[in-house]
Amino acid sequence: MIKLFSHIREILLAECEPVGIRRKERMKDVHSLSDAWLLVKDDQILDFGKMDDLTCYLNTHGIYPTEEINCTGRLIFPAFADSHTHLVFTATREQEFVDKINGLTYEEIAARGGGILNSAEKLAHATEEELLESAMQRINEVMQTGTGALEIKSGYGLSMEGELKILRVIKSIKEKNILPVKATFLGAHAYPRMYKENHTAYLDLLRHELLPNIAAEQLADYMDVFCEANYFSVQEMELLLEAAAKYGLKPKVHVNQFNSLGGIVAAVKHQALSVDHLEVVTYDDIESLKSSNTIATLLPGCSLFINIPFAPARELIDAGVAVALASDYNPGSAPSGNMQLVMSLACMRMKMLPEEALIASTIHGAAAMEMQHQIGTITPGKKANFIITHPVSSITYLPYAFGTNHVSSLYIYGRRMV
Ligand code: NIG
Ligand code: FE
Repeated sequence: MIKLFSHIREILLAECEPVGIRRKERMKDVHSLSDAWLLVKDDQILDFGKMDDLTCYLNTHGIYPTEEINCTGRLIFPAFADSHTHLVFTATREQEFVDKINGLTYEEIAARGGGILNSAEKLAHATEEELLESAMQRINEVMQTGTGALEIKSGYGLSMEGELKILRVIKSIKEKNILPVKATFLGAHAYPRMYKENHTAYLDLLRHELLPNIAAEQLADYMDVFCEANYFSVQEMELLLEAAAKYGLKPKVHVNQFNSLGGIVAAVKHQALSVDHLEVVTYDDIESLKSSNTIATLLPGCSLFINIPFAPARELIDAGVAVALASDYNPGSAPSGNMQLVMSLACMRMKMLPEEALIASTIHGAAAMEMQHQIGTITPGKKANFIITHPVSSITYLPYAFGTNHVSSLYIYGRRMV
């Protein structure tokens, strides 16, 4: 099956070779091709070129497309790779939304028994089937706005049964093979009430009981810890990362959301794939990141929703840190998985240029899930995972005209999903 996408206004991130992280000025380099064609064979990108050369190309290669899709006026670019979500959960938390309107902070709501513990209590009563059904609805929802790959965290179980349940749901999502998915174990999301005064016992449960079971069932690719005041200390995080490393789970951690405790420096030391949030960063944090391979994953939807500072993207990029953008889709701090909104917020509130926001949401998101060789650019041999927009003038129009869905169709593994 060969599909021909013809008369494309512009293909963005059209790269002949698979490319990885771009730092500083290079983060503005979006290679593009105008008045272009794209060929897809089964689930892969076969090639691309200029319309002028199409007939010659097809003749020389003896290619007879089975279908032609006319893309006049439209852009094609890689599907969004959302590398930080918590989209397996059971209940939304709109009451906390009202509490916030009435003046309570995220931390005050958590202290009153809301927040993560509230979600964990509700998840304890849900079955795997129910969780899978609601997660699939959310996946369908985020595909409508262009998401073509996901990282999904546990972290609303906070018990042996609960964490295994949520990770098994993520495994079932993976097995459906609808889109590329990575799973992250976030048992260290918050201390359950019964362990409030006995951290050691919970850390032991995570290290000595949960991790071996997770490894035996191959339920996780990465290890996450919410390193924050009133959650997990830097020392506790390090203990957990060391334990996870024995099972081959690399760190992807929540750090510096409200306070800079030294979690970034420690995570870099443990060769974290990514450090996520970073609404509060210090000079030392930036220094340690810029000379590392650790990706800084910024989550502007969370800043908007819980009204906290936006991460200093400009400073990070200019210093040479690798920056990705993700949605943080979760019921408490970012109840949206819309990556177009994330791109708009990055431009409007974090001073990222549209090209930088695009790279951060595609190839850098893919790299933050170690999938940069399969997805994240339009490259021959990579998976045919891309977005076709409605007719628009340029990539700049997308984050500019915020709040509108610019996705006309989404292809994943060469199949039209939207
Ligand atoms: O990334 N900060 C920690 N975890 C999530 C929020 C989880 C929740 O409030 O349910 C986050 O913002
Ligand atoms: Fe998160």
